[in-house]
Amino acid sequence: MTIRPICITGNPVLHTKALEVTEFNEELRVLVQDMYETMDEAPGVGLAAPQIGVNLRIFVYDWDAEDGSAQRGVVINPTLTTSAVPTEQADWESESEGCLSVPGERFPLKRAESAVVTGVDLDQNPVHIEATGWFARIFQHEFDHLEGILYVDKLSEPYAQEAKDTIAERGWGKDGISWLPGEEKLEG
Ligand code: NI
Repeated sequence: MTIRPICITGNPVLHTKALEVTEFNEELRVLVQDMYETMDEAPGVGLAAPQIGVNLRIFVYDWDAEDGSAQRGVVINPTLTTSAVPTEQADWESESEGCLSVPGERFPLKRAESAVVTGVDLDQNPVHIEATGWFARIFQHEFDHLEGILYVDKLSEPYAQEAKDTIAERGWGKDGISWLPGEEKLEG
């Protein structure tokens, strides 16, 4: 297994709709193992394949739920259905979200309270997950990655401008920048 560099916003793969997985082979198995390892090392609660430069519709997640249960898995070729997204301003304290492709930053974003995810696993067995609260947020965030959307693309003002400024200040927002979990400094 290999920890892979995580692409930072600006890399075109993060801003492109990912492709359906059609080949369920050993290469896919290795990719998913690397995704788990990279997510764990980062650490993060989710990781989508485009974040490691692979333009495929796959994400992994790892979430310790409020009830103490551990939720960990992979979803390949997911579909997502959610409840309505509330229209009021997001709360900084309880609704600030982060992303490994915008590392070290957090901004608040409204998400739907509940989500249903379907798809398949590595053995092409059906996956069906019903989630609420932060677990539902993770699925919305990861699914967006597969659509080429980062959470910072969805922010309301003033946070949208703050995120834009931060990305510019950090020298991100262009191709070729990544970071390797386990190493302190940014690559590229
Ligand atoms: Ni993310």
